[in-house]
Amino acid sequence: MAGPILHGVQVVLRPVADSDVPALEAMLREPEVARWWMRDTWERVDEEGSTVFAILADGQVAGCIEYAEEADLDYRHAGVDLFVGARFQGRGIGTDALRTLLMFLTDERGHHRVIIDPAVENERAIHVYEKVGFRRVGVMRRYERHSDGEWHDGLLMELLAEELVR
Ligand SMILES: CC(C)(COP(=O)(O)OP(=O)(O)OC[C@H]1O[C@@H](n2cnc3c(N)ncnc32)[C@H](O)[C@@H]1OP(=O)(O)O)[C@@H](O)C(=O)NCCC(=O)NCCS
Repeated sequence: MAGPILHGVQVVLRPVADSDVPALEAMLREPEVARWWMRDTWERVDEEGSTVFAILADGQVAGCIEYAEEADLDYRHAGVDLFVGARFQGRGIGTDALRTLLMFLTDERGHHRVIIDPAVENERAIHVYEKVGFRRVGVMRRYERHSDGEWHDGLLMELLAEELVR
């Protein structure tokens, strides 16, 4: 599903173009990304039901951010996920991209609740998520299989619309 174009402070989020895919697939192969991002091919990222954006910084493709919406209106919420390529990490890009998408999901899409589920060991991601307002709900045990073949715990985090740090 193609999304709109969203403007952050440092980043622009726009629908992924076919010409972005080789750069994004190269990022998926980077150890700094692959350690924490399990879907290792583009087909596994761009799934039915997800809206996927390229993160642009200084006009370059720096990563990818996506959301999916629960269709049952009595459980309405969005789930989000992102990765930033190794050479773009640590420059505020992930924080700005996430905040920009969260403003869209709460202000434009009307979501009152958004979730995200990093690995328990992914301290950098958890720090970024708490910085924008996510709170820790609890540990999901043996939640996802990592490249070492082992099942690892995941941390369920949630943000209510009024908790977003803008
Ligand atoms: C996690 C990720 C999206 C964050 O994006 P980013 O652009 O690198 O992050 P930013 O530069 O915006 O912010 C990084 C913050 O983490 C902090 N940080 C860095 N390493 C850290 C660590 N080991 N533990 C805790 N905090 C850490 C930085 O100090 C900075 O916080 P600050 O602004 O308060 O000083 C990105 O690093 C990434 O894609 N990593 C690999 C894939 C991944 O983990 N995806 C998330 C899956 S849930």
